[in-house]
Amino acid sequence: MDEKIDPWGSIQVKDYGETIDKFGINSMDDLDNEIPGSNRLFTRDIIYGQRDFDKVLKAKKKNEDFAMMTGMMPSGKFHFGHKLVADMIKYFQNLGADVYVAVADIEAYLTRDMPLEKTREIAIKEYLRNYIALGIDVDKLDFYFQSEGSTNYNKMSKMFSKNITQNELEAIYGEMDPGKTISVLTQAADILKPQFEENGGPKPVVVPVGIDQDPHIRLTRDIASRFKETDFVKPSSIYTKFMRGITGGKMSSSDPKSYIALNDSIEDAKKKIDSAKTGGKQSLEEHRKKGADVEEDVVFELLAFNLIDDDERLRDIYRRYDSGEMLSGELKQIAKEEMENFLEEHHKKLERADKKIAKMFPQT
Ligand code: TRP
Repeated sequence: MDEKIDPWGSIQVKDYGETIDKFGINSMDDLDNEIPGSNRLFTRDIIYGQRDFDKVLKAKKKNEDFAMMTGMMPSGKFHFGHKLVADMIKYFQNLGADVYVAVADIEAYLTRDMPLEKTREIAIKEYLRNYIALGIDVDKLDFYFQSEGSTNYNKMSKMFSKNITQNELEAIYGEMDPGKTISVLTQAADILKPQFEENGGPKPVVVPVGIDQDPHIRLTRDIASRFKETDFVKPSSIYTKFMRGITGGKMSSSDPKSYIALNDSIEDAKKKIDSAKTGGKQSLEEHRKKGADVEEDVVFELLAFNLIDDDERLRDIYRRYDSGEMLSGELKQIAKEEMENFLEEHHKKLERADKKIAKMFPQT
């Protein structure tokens, strides 16, 4: 494999099937019938790939311990792309998984020059606050900061360096430096933390990621199998599509026009929907004749990924838009109504979350 992914760079995926083949990831289709419940993350192929996810499903089936772990470098507002991760936390929490969320303040400090305090503040005021409002049980969540990991966590992250060579690191990441190396080893400790003795020992763990994080998954799977002192289960991963930016490019925290934040005003959110890239045709005549390019339409994506639960209704919208019967203005109208309903409720829940935050982090 000579193509490298730079997890600290910026990647855009055109063809998800291709990335699966290129990096030896398995399609989610193989496990479609094994997924408990019916969740749009799976039924709508928002999660498209996996490594060893069957281990986690088996544990669930047999009523054995399993965990889900994720992490983030918070950089700005909590938007609808982030909401997908929150939906996953909720899904796995409801299945009975122990859930761990790492705030990657060390990685952000080393690779983005972000002060620890700033990362901490965004993690709490944006991410955690939205998690609470979205109905995640934060009392059951291990929400921690890399900079405050336990003695054992710090010990492990250092010991893991014995299991990899500089050549292997460079084969995976390209050029490496001390900051990147520490970030990678810290992330390995995050991913294996649910299996540490203090957390009940070895167990299947699933890590939902975008393809940009796959190098860390591959590396940690090698570390897990080579580490002699603990019999780790190789961690599993599932791969999530990236939501596209509102105006068609990449969704990016540094460009507020590219995303809708969950605390945007209803008015701003509607304006952003109006500015969105659609799959509508140039002229009315052509649109009626040929129909929309639904796959190109970010408004439809917003509905499918986030705003419409009812499969039947979404299918009907798809059919009408695809056939040209529905215009992109009409699709936007639906999205604006759904967005208003969602945000109106959510903003109230955000306010209610403040009490809980104050209790958990009295200083912030
Ligand atoms: N590297 C991740 C990012 O860039 C953050 C992260 C840290 C992470 N530890 C993790 C992600 C463990 C998944 C699992 O956002």
